[in-house]
Amino acid sequence: MAKIFFKPDNLHLECEDGTRLIDFCDESPDVSLCFGCTEGSCGVCELTVLKGNENLSKVTEEEKEYLLKEDLENGMRLGCQLTIRKGEIELTWKKNRAK
Ligand code: FES
Repeated sequence: MAKIFFKPDNLHLECEDGTRLIDFCDESPDVSLCFGCTEGSCGVCELTVLKGNENLSKVTEEEKEYLLKEDLENGMRLGCQLTIRKGEIELTWKKNRAK
């Protein structure tokens, strides 16, 4: 089981190793992270990994294309591209009013 802290929602949740973040968020109505295109091209799901980037799936081509290199280096990722591998992870993102 991986442990994820969703900072903007102040939520600590446990997640089965190998789960896609988008699926986990779908099943966790209290998580306010939003998704749009779901395929790495709109940026709606942009987030920053505060801890545990090594516990997430590798950066995809879509992320490399959408995000700036320096943003990637600072832990920015696209939520729709992420799979939770294991361990402890902390995520944050800019909350919007939509949800
Ligand atoms: S939902 Fe569009 S980039 Fe992730």
